[in-house]
Amino acid sequence: MPNSVTIKKQIRQFKKKIIVSGDKSLSIRWILFASIAKGISVAENLLISEDVMAAIESIKKLGIKVKFEKKKCIIYGNGVDGYKYKKNITLNAKNSGTFGRLILGLLINCQHSIKLIGDKSLSKRDFKRISDPLSKFGANFKLKNYKNLPLIIKGSSNLKSINYNENKGSAQCKSSVILGALRSNGTTIIKAKKSRNHTELICKYLGLPIKINNKKNYDQIKVSKADKIKPLNYKIPSDISSSAFFMVLTALSKNSQLIIKNVNINPSRIGIINILNKMGVKINLINTKIYKGEKNADIEVLSPKYIKPINCPANLTSQAIDEFLVIFLVAAKARGVSYFKNLSELDKKESPRLKWGSKILNKMGIKNIVTKDSIKIFGNPDLKIKKNVIIKNYLKDHRIFMTSVVAALTFGGNWKIHDRDSIKTSFPNFLKIIKKLNQNDKKKKYN
Ligand code: S3P
Repeated sequence: MPNSVTIKKQIRQFKKKIIVSGDKSLSIRWILFASIAKGISVAENLLISEDVMAAIESIKKLGIKVKFEKKKCIIYGNGVDGYKYKKNITLNAKNSGTFGRLILGLLINCQHSIKLIGDKSLSKRDFKRISDPLSKFGANFKLKNYKNLPLIIKGSSNLKSINYNENKGSAQCKSSVILGALRSNGTTIIKAKKSRNHTELICKYLGLPIKINNKKNYDQIKVSKADKIKPLNYKIPSDISSSAFFMVLTALSKNSQLIIKNVNINPSRIGIINILNKMGVKINLINTKIYKGEKNADIEVLSPKYIKPINCPANLTSQAIDEFLVIFLVAAKARGVSYFKNLSELDKKESPRLKWGSKILNKMGIKNIVTKDSIKIFGNPDLKIKKNVIIKNYLKDHRIFMTSVVAALTFGGNWKIHDRDSIKTSFPNFLKIIKKLNQNDKKKKYN
């Protein structure tokens, strides 16, 4: 099978019900907590993707037994100090910033040096942002060019608590420090710019020593050493970041309607819903429920008559941090000029996504003005692409691939999109669901 897709036809109108894969952030966090719990933890609907498998393979190298049975994943935790730190361990985080950064928080007590490596994309990303605070606990780091992978970590048996000011809005940095604090003597105090709070919610659910004080612009989090962690059985809800591609596909299609079942709608993740709402897309949340501290719901999206431009409030940036590429497509179809600011973190992702967002829009013939942390997009509600568009991203960013597929299916043109394999990192089923939406089954209201 070629590692590219060719799309020459726009998607037909649809009325469907779909299920997208399990949430990546929650899947990786579940693996990490289960790996230091005492006893057996079981997850249902764990995302089976390369990022998540990188986490599973790594904890196995640390002596943790993992089994897959039917649709369940079972982790046999050996307790808080249960990792077996042999000599010469190398862990491969592959494409996963989340796993690569979070695991370091748990390794700050390793007795022997551990090497952490990743793929080409991860090896370009900043790990100093996490080695700096973790060093303060007492761990030692050696990084390539002082900031990149491969890195070597050597832990300490005398870990002390720290004060940490997380000012980037990075949930990965915040979470890694929380995990480090669970291993360290005393109480760590974190002042964190708002970002997704799954780690805090799991800690709370497990009854770990964490106190959270939510202020308007930041959270104050106090975490102390955990002596014991209970096993955690978890039914992972669907991923809103994967759902976002289908929400936008619906927003850009005519007379269509989509329901996405049981998606995690943690308030720190729903920027895509807030932004689409502001742009005139009707979204209904159905069957909302709280599960182990997390809010989940079915999301219904209705295609709008027309799309309004947006001056996107800066406080929505962290809530939609992984969704901007596909949100830019919505702005491309808006009646007017949209403006997105406060986006400096976008160029620090799997690929420089702000630059790539602009590049994709240019290829589509949409005028845009990009700075180092903002983009102005001059929407064209009548856009119909008639030319060839080729997308090839040498860092193989999964979200560039999926965004391009959505653009091809909604704006027309003759697209060749390379690196279909990239979806294996976060959403291996993506193209199967696209195919399902493209199938004609007129009689049923929903399929
Ligand atoms: C994630 C946090 C975000 C996000 C990433 C997943 C997490 O990264 O972009 O896809 O699960 O904690 P940053 O923490 O670097 O913003």
